Order: sequence, then C-alpha cells, then structure tokens
Amino acid sequence: MKVTVVGAGNVGATCADILAYREIANEVVLVDIKEGIAEGKALDIWQKAPIDLYDTRTVGVTNDYSKTAGSDVVVITSGLPRKPGMTRDDLIETNAGIVKSVTEQIVKYSPETIIIVVSNPLDVMTYQAHITSNFPRTRVMGMAGILDTARYRAFLAEALNVSPKDIQAMLLGGHGDTMVPLPRYTTVGGIPVTELIGAQELDAIIERTKFGGGELVKLMGTSAWYAPGSAAAQMVEAIVRDQRRVFPVCINLEGEYGINNCYLGVPVILGKNGVEKVIELNLDSDEKALLETSRGHVAEVMSVLDRLNTK
Ligand code: NAI
Ligand code: 2OP
Repeated sequence: MKVTVVGAGNVGATCADILAYREIANEVVLVDIKEGIAEGKALDIWQKAPIDLYDTRTVGVTNDYSKTAGSDVVVITSGLPRKPGMTRDDLIETNAGIVKSVTEQIVKYSPETIIIVVSNPLDVMTYQAHITSNFPRTRVMGMAGILDTARYRAFLAEALNVSPKDIQAMLLGGHGDTMVPLPRYTTVGGIPVTELIGAQELDAIIERTKFGGGELVKLMGTSAWYAPGSAAAQMVEAIVRDQRRVFPVCINLEGEYGINNCYLGVPVILGKNGVEKVIELNLDSDEKALLETSRGHVAEVMSVLDRLNTK
C-alpha cells in the first residue's frame, strides 16, 4: 500500500512517522512546498527504521507529485495552522487555495485514491477537496471526530481515574466550538457514563472538549499535532487494512439526519472503499437542536468558500 501525506509540518510529519513506525503502508510519500523539508523529515523517519525495526519506505519530495502516483490514500495537512486569537475559520482563504491546488495534483496522479483532509477549517476544506476532486463522497472525508472524541475520552479518563482504553464515545457536527459530544452514546467499560459522573462535571468536560483545540493553541502558540497526526493515521489504517472501524468522520451529508449538502462529522464505517456506510443515530430533541446549530455554522463558512471560489 502506498500513502501520500501532503504537508510535512507538525501534523503531516507526525502522521507519516506513525504510518511508517506501525507499518500501516509499505511506502509513505511526504510532500511539501518548502524546499527540502519533506526530504529531510522522510530521511529522518527512514533512519529511525533500524532502531524501531520497521521496513516502510519513506520518501520526501518538494512539490513533485509524480512521485505520489498510484497512492491508495492521500492525507492533506498542508496549510496554515492557527495562532493564538485566531479561529479555525480565519484560515479559510489561504487554506482553500492550498487545498484546491494540492487536490488538483493528487487527482492527476492518483485518480482512484481516497482523500483524508486535515487542514482547517476542516469541514469546509473537506468541501473544497470534494468539489475539486469531483470524487464520490465516499472517497473524500475529513479528520476531526477521532481527535475531538479522543480529547473528550482523555478528559473523562482523568476525571474518573480509569484507563482511556475503556472509554467509548461518539460526537457529531462540525470541527469547532459547535461540535456535539453525545453523553447518551458515551460508555465506560460498557457502563453509561451518566451512571459514573455528575451532570455538572460532565458538562464541564464537554465544554473543555469543544474548546480543546484552542486550549492547546494558547499553550503552544500553534495548534496540536501528536493526537491529530495519530488520528489521521488511524483513519488510513482502517482503510488500507479494510478494518470497517466505526469512527466519527466528516462527510457530505445527502439526506442523513435530515441534512443535505453540508459537511459534518457523523459516525461512519471506514473500510477499503473509504466511507462504507453512514450511520444514522436516533437523536433526541436537544441533540437535534445542537446538530442544527452546528450545521448552520458550517453552512455559513461553506458559503464564504462559495463566494471565494466564484470570485
Ligand atoms: P504546519 O505549519 O506545521 O505544517 C503545514 C505544512 O504545510 C508546512 O510545512 C507548509 O510548508 C506546508 N504547505 C503549505 N502550503 C503547501 C502546499 N501548497 N503544498 C504542500 N505543502 C504546503 O501546520 P500543522 O500544525 O501541521 O497543521 C496543518 C493544518 O492542519 C492546519 O491547517 C491546521 O489548522 C490543521 N489541523 C487540523 C486538525 C484537525 O483536527 N482537522 C488538527 C490539527 C491541525
Ligand atoms: C485542533 O483541534 C486546531 O483543529 C485543530 O487541534
């Protein structure tokens, strides 16, 4: 299996490293626009192979997409990250241009590939990659839900003093402050979370999760990369190993949840064809209202992109 990661910055290089270290692909191609950065990081990862004992070949290139030809999966991480004081939506104009040009090159050399978008604003960059590639929606998706649920699960594990391995959770909506963590679909070793934690403490964890990305930007001056890189690699693994994992993934909704033409995180089955199935949960009226708020926000940012693309 061949996987390309576009953008050899914090998230892209972390993702490439995990793909190699865990031998998720036979070959990983790292691409960046900055001369030498992808070559250097790919070489560094390759020089770690004799220490960590893996045989995935890692190759780095500066903007040479011919080397990405025939990729089974492509992860797009190219673009600006947030700085303190910025929202994800502030990145739209610059990152839309980058995602568009990268997608054109990817499609030219790997017309059958599956695209996983990571660049922000995530839901709308997934929209950009989808319209540029003209692929079926099952082959263009965004990574955010695995990261957002991981934050939620990590905070819960800490509060309950249990292993994060035993916390299962689901979350819907856009990758932003309007995301919708779902306590009704959160369990700890099979026990509903609401039996183990008080409503106030759970609400505080949900609020912290919604602003989890911003918390890290404040601490580090740029956005996170270990958990995001790992989350993207987990999606690649589910596809290349046809694992049929159930994850929250951003995809264009075509009537599911009563929503049409909006890119939102929903539970899906991920396998060799990309999104094998969108799972529709039975939401209660509060959850429906929260999802509608999130849809409204993403739709607004999508219309900003529409205006940029028709300028
Ligand atoms: P970074 O600045 O460390 O890396 C971005 C890389 O993209 C740089 O090396 C840059 O040279 C490269 N790049 C820029 N234009 C390019 C082009 N046209 N072609 C190829 N490479 C190009 O940023 P980082 O931290 O890796 O974040 C990347 C993106 O991922 C940002 O937009 C960030 O907001 C987003 N992100 C999304 C998350 C999610 O949950 N979806 C989580 C974390 C970050
Ligand atoms: C995050 O949630 C900024 O989207 C990025 O860490």
